[in-house]
Amino acid sequence: MDYLQAIDTLISPASESDLPVIELFAKSYDLDCEDLSWKQFIVAKNSDAIIGFGRLKTYPECTEIATVGVLPEERNKGVGLSIVKELIRIAPSEIFVTCVIPNFFHKAGFETVKQYPFVLQKKVDFCKLYDFSDEQIFVMKLQK
Ligand SMILES: CC(C)(COP(=O)(O)OP(=O)(O)OC[C@H]1O[C@@H](n2cnc3c(N)ncnc32)[C@H](O)[C@@H]1OP(=O)(O)O)[C@@H](O)C(=O)NCCC(=O)NCCS
Repeated sequence: MDYLQAIDTLISPASESDLPVIELFAKSYDLDCEDLSWKQFIVAKNSDAIIGFGRLKTYPECTEIATVGVLPEERNKGVGLSIVKELIRIAPSEIFVTCVIPNFFHKAGFETVKQYPFVLQKKVDFCKLYDFSDEQIFVMKLQK
């Protein structure tokens, strides 16, 4: 992350007015848009403009990091990893993620698991709608 990026980007809880923008970007990146609530999200902003977002999805059985996205022009500057690290900080001790980019989440400390709460199977099935095979979909876990 370069110095300018570091001082210009603020990560904070989302507000209600952020949700339409988050939803627009999340849909355009084919991310999980199930049961969206602004209260689940944190946002990264540069001069008040949203450049990235992510959420904690809470199920009775577990907590999942989901719907992490960074605007294309802001990628590869450390914003995505900063969002994930902040979500980890505010999450309970056991956190899951279901993804097709395991290397990215591995950088935040997640490890692939073969056994996971049944509710996450829904997310695995969602990824398959986008033509990902079982071998390309990873459920990962981090224990703080
Ligand atoms: C995935 C995404 C959030 C990453 O955001 P980003 O701001 O570009 O990520 P960062 O700059 O923080 O990258 C941190 C590290 O992860 C790596 N990385 C970034 N995107 C990656 C990807 N798609 N696959 C594997 N590694 C990735 C970077 O190379 C960097 O590694 P380094 O520290 O060794 O240089 C962003 O590319 C995005 O919005 N993609 C589309 C939506 C998506 O796939 N979301 C995840 C759904 S669960």
